[in-house]
Amino acid sequence: MDIFLDTADIEEIKQAAALGILSGVTTNPSLMMKAGQSDYKTVTQEICSIVQGPVSAEVISTDADSMVEEAKVIGQWSPHVVVKVPVTEEGLKAISRIAELEVDPETLCEGCPWFGECDTDIETARDLAELWGIRTNATLVFSANQGLLAAVAGASFVSPFVGRLDDAGHDGMEIVAMIAEIFDTYGFDTEIIAASIRHPLHITQAALAGAHIATVPWGVLRKAIGHPLTDVGLERFLADWDKVKKG
Ligand code: E4P
Repeated sequence: MDIFLDTADIEEIKQAAALGILSGVTTNPSLMMKAGQSDYKTVTQEICSIVQGPVSAEVISTDADSMVEEAKVIGQWSPHVVVKVPVTEEGLKAISRIAELEVDPETLCEGCPWFGECDTDIETARDLAELWGIRTNATLVFSANQGLLAAVAGASFVSPFVGRLDDAGHDGMEIVAMIAEIFDTYGFDTEIIAASIRHPLHITQAALAGAHIATVPWGVLRKAIGHPLTDVGLERFLADWDKVKKG
């Protein structure tokens, strides 16, 4: 299972990337607001240049025509960008139409401030865009049916919101497991992103439930790395080594 970071905070993304365990990032308008980011394009391009993996940027329109227009723009920012679309009737229409779109190689990565220093050169970017087209992440998934329908519509990723389901008194991880079983049975290529992760146990449970990815807030990821017994064990090893050196 891959680990994505659920944030729009550049410093958090750099710290997680330095750990060598980061495969992608998910953002949304609330995370942009929290990180104090208003230039959606520039911040998304910076995240793409750091991560070199799928980076979700969400549409803010609610009707299919406008979502598709937004996707055409967002899809040109980077081959790594994934357009996040909510699962509604209009959202499903948009997902199926976006799946048919092609990226314009001439304007791909246009205006990117990290152009030239990014690990993805323009030739590679064009090859990837030709291969992938414009990928979508079906977001705000709260049922197995929503996950299934998004996959049928052609979504590359679906994001069941585990924590918000738990908050509402449901078992969020059960939805992840159901979607995983359905995708497995019918051979969908769509990847499951366990989203709305609230604590380290959610990461383990997502892996066991068959999620391909868990998108995790930085605070939760740090908690998952640490363990008090690791700290105590390390302290003891260092203290013993000190004694060895002193003879
Ligand atoms: C994922 O794509 C969403 O941005 C995110 O996981 C939502 O999490 P929340 O329920 O903590 O807002």
